[in-house]
Amino acid sequence: MRVMAPGREPENGRGPRRSRAPASHLRTAGALLSVLPVLALAAPGATRRDPLEIARMLATGAHAGDCSTCHSQHGEGQPMAYEHALIGPDDNTLCDRCHTTPWSGGSYPGTWTYTGSAHGSSRTAIWPGPDPPARTEPDAPGKCLNCHDPHGWKDGSGEIPRLMVAREEALCLACHDGSPATTNVRSDLQKAYRHPTTDYSGRHAGPAESLPSDFAVSPVNRRHAECEDCHNPHVARHDPGAGPMPPDASKRLLGASRVRVLNGPAGGAPTYTFLAGADTLTAPVTEYQLCFKCHSSWTVQPGGQTDLARVLNPANPSYHPVEALGKNLNINSLAFVTGWSATSYTKCGDCHGSDLGAAGPHGSSYRYILRSPYTASSSFRTMAPNEACFGCHSYDVYANRNSPESVRSASRFNRPRADKGHAEHVDQKQVPCYACHTTHGSSTLKHLIVTGRSPGIQSYTETPTGGTCSPTCHGSKSYTVNYAR
Ligand code: HEC
Ligand code: HEC
Ligand code: HEC
Ligand code: HEC
Ligand code: HEC
Ligand code: HEC
Ligand code: HEC
Ligand code: HEC
Ligand code: HEC
Repeated sequence: MRVMAPGREPENGRGPRRSRAPASHLRTAGALLSVLPVLALAAPGATRRDPLEIARMLATGAHAGDCSTCHSQHGEGQPMAYEHALIGPDDNTLCDRCHTTPWSGGSYPGTWTYTGSAHGSSRTAIWPGPDPPARTEPDAPGKCLNCHDPHGWKDGSGEIPRLMVAREEALCLACHDGSPATTNVRSDLQKAYRHPTTDYSGRHAGPAESLPSDFAVSPVNRRHAECEDCHNPHVARHDPGAGPMPPDASKRLLGASRVRVLNGPAGGAPTYTFLAGADTLTAPVTEYQLCFKCHSSWTVQPGGQTDLARVLNPANPSYHPVEALGKNLNINSLAFVTGWSATSYTKCGDCHGSDLGAAGPHGSSYRYILRSPYTASSSFRTMAPNEACFGCHSYDVYANRNSPESVRSASRFNRPRADKGHAEHVDQKQVPCYACHTTHGSSTLKHLIVTGRSPGIQSYTETPTGGTCSPTCHGSKSYTVNYAR
């Protein structure tokens, strides 16, 4: 969402609330009278806001009550121990006095976990301003106050939920635009293909979202993808080294809710179990479980979108190895580019992500938020060496008819045993992978072979030593494989 121009008064947002809360107003006003002089003394000229405005704001939020729960009531002339006349130091220990039950609201895990998180430990995680003003005190890094105002804060659309200092992604992008955070997620979200993080506002109902309908396109369209749906700002942390091996999830995704699957027979939808953000321990904790929250039949997806949980079911005859090892484990290692093999796992993020920017599927210049280009069409075209498939499958093996047969024979469907195989089709005849292969998984055919596309394969049967296909391009043909499956 975009923050509305400041200065637009949130009449509608505040009006009804004001009339609802006269009692707490009076109570607060009483406490206010005793604390006001102290606050004035405490920060001469430094008070950012009118205390009356603070009182009004406080009365409508989760911290409604007396100022004295956090501020000292000691009168003028008495020694003041702490800044802003607080009852303790102006740091997270103030919050710890009451926020002692981890996960009680859904995403705050308690002080120990928070302290080890990126935001709790980074020396540069300091609110940059301008609204509310930048924090400048030396101990600002790690403070809850970089993201929360204990009194509440408002923007052009009114009071901001959960005592945050900015609404939804506006909070995160204030820092994650290259400074003070090092990564620029904002620029990825401005690309042509992106998660609709900035497109929707008010659909994310907070950390307790746990129903399929919270993410569904119908009966009410609640489709959204805020930063908090994929990251828990109190828990997310940097991965050591090169990060975990897939399918294990990155620590950047820890503490966000997810959906676990118990798979049944090929083609069927699995049984789903929702796991709250608090559940960071039930193994496996994987990336695809996060994606399944919105891209599987656990929820109601937009028409035409693939049910990823159904196609990636390891009981299927073929799939990219996201949930389990692949079904074709004897593929020659020379058919892969360095670093990949038949026994690798692939996570969604190996194919989906930014073309150039921050890690993660925030946005890309390529359709389907792919890290490299790929056209989901079987129309004849010359495939370029930078296309998505060649990030793992060797271009010279699959798409270069000029490479030596010794290289091409790393694929079973190639010369010398198959007289016209991958290289001839892809290179010479300009048949893209998409004409013969589906990408994520197939519940009916081996080798990700797909029928029914045009140009493409109408029927395919496998034999122990080869196969037969009837394509739209020529009559039925059989081939023999270069090496055993
Ligand atoms: C939940 C704890 C909490 C409650 C309740 C609370 N405050 Fe505060 N207040 C704080 C903290 C923490 C600070 C320091 C903020 C900072 O460092 O930015 C603060 C700072 C202030 C300041 C100085 C702020 C500034 O903008 O410079 C004023 C004025 C103030 N509080 C007034 C009030 C009044 C009036 C009430 C009651 C209506 C109240 N507070 C209730 C926690 C609280
Ligand atoms: C005097 C006790 C007390 C102190 C001190 C306190 N809180 Fe709270 N806080 C509460 C209560 C009570 C709630 C409402 C119930 C809940 O969500 O747990 C709450 C709720 C919240 C919420 C959720 C708001 C919502 O709309 O759901 C946030 C965020 C929050 N507190 C942050 C802070 C931060 C940051 C500090 C330290 C600056 C702090 N609190 C200090 C008692 C306190
Ligand atoms: C980097 C920003 C950031 C920091 C730092 C941060 N929070 Fe939060 N906090 C959030 C956001 C965002 C939410 C709302 C999550 C959602 O909508 O799903 C939230 C929600 C909460 C809630 C609401 C209930 C719950 O469990 O989700 C509490 C309580 C809370 N924070 C307490 C704290 C405390 C205490 C600290 C410091 C120890 C802190 N937060 C530091 C961003 C932050
Ligand atoms: C006050 C500035 C600030 C705010 C606001 C903020 N962040 Fe951060 N965040 C940082 C800094 C600094 C780091 C440390 C890594 C870096 O410098 O890039 C970090 C790290 C992270 C990481 C871990 C990345 C890694 O591998 O180091 C994630 C994930 C993250 N933030 C997500 C969020 C989300 C989601 C929000 C909003 C709820 C948010 N941040 C709000 C400053 C901020
Ligand atoms: C909280 C919900 C949510 C989660 C979690 C989520 N997405 Fe999405 N994603 C969306 C929404 C909403 C869209 C926009 C289109 C739609 O409604 O599906 C989208 C779009 C996409 C697209 C583009 C689809 C197209 O047709 O171009 C891809 C690719 C994608 N997501 C991948 C992922 C991956 C990978 C993950 C896990 C790391 C993930 N998503 C997690 C909500 C989510
Ligand atoms: C091996 C690479 C690869 C992996 C792994 C992968 N994708 Fe894709 N994905 C693609 C490609 C390529 C497309 C483009 C359309 C196509 O080929 O069907 C695509 C398209 C999509 C689309 C939009 C089109 C559609 O069919 O709905 C979504 C949503 C999506 N992927 C989500 C995911 C999620 C979620 C995961 C992990 C659970 C994942 N993908 C894993 C390569 C991959
Ligand atoms: C659809 C899920 C999704 C959404 C929405 C999302 N992220 Fe991410 N984010 C990811 C994934 C997945 C990663 C990569 C994790 C990994 O390293 O494998 C990531 C990585 C990151 C990183 C680390 C980048 C780096 O290169 O170090 C930061 C910072 C971050 N996200 C912040 C944000 C912010 C801020 C928002 C909202 C503006 C946001 N994310 C929205 C899924 C998401
Ligand atoms: C991130 C790496 C990666 C990318 C990108 C990738 N693949 Fe794969 N692919 C693999 C791995 C690993 C296997 C081995 C799985 C196995 O042994 O069954 C595999 C296997 C296959 C198989 C054989 C499956 C079987 O059961 O026989 C086909 C066909 C395939 N990929 C096609 C594609 C196409 C088409 C693309 C581009 C849209 C693509 N791949 C992109 C990693 C990748
Ligand atoms: C004309 C149809 C066709 C096209 C186009 C095609 N493939 Fe295949 N592919 C096949 C067939 C048939 C097999 C099954 C080989 C067997 O019998 O084991 C196969 C098998 C594979 C395998 C399994 C390992 C192997 O090579 O034996 C991979 C990986 C693969 N294809 C990747 C690709 C990629 C990447 C592209 C695009 C660059 C592509 N294919 C284009 C028909 C095709």
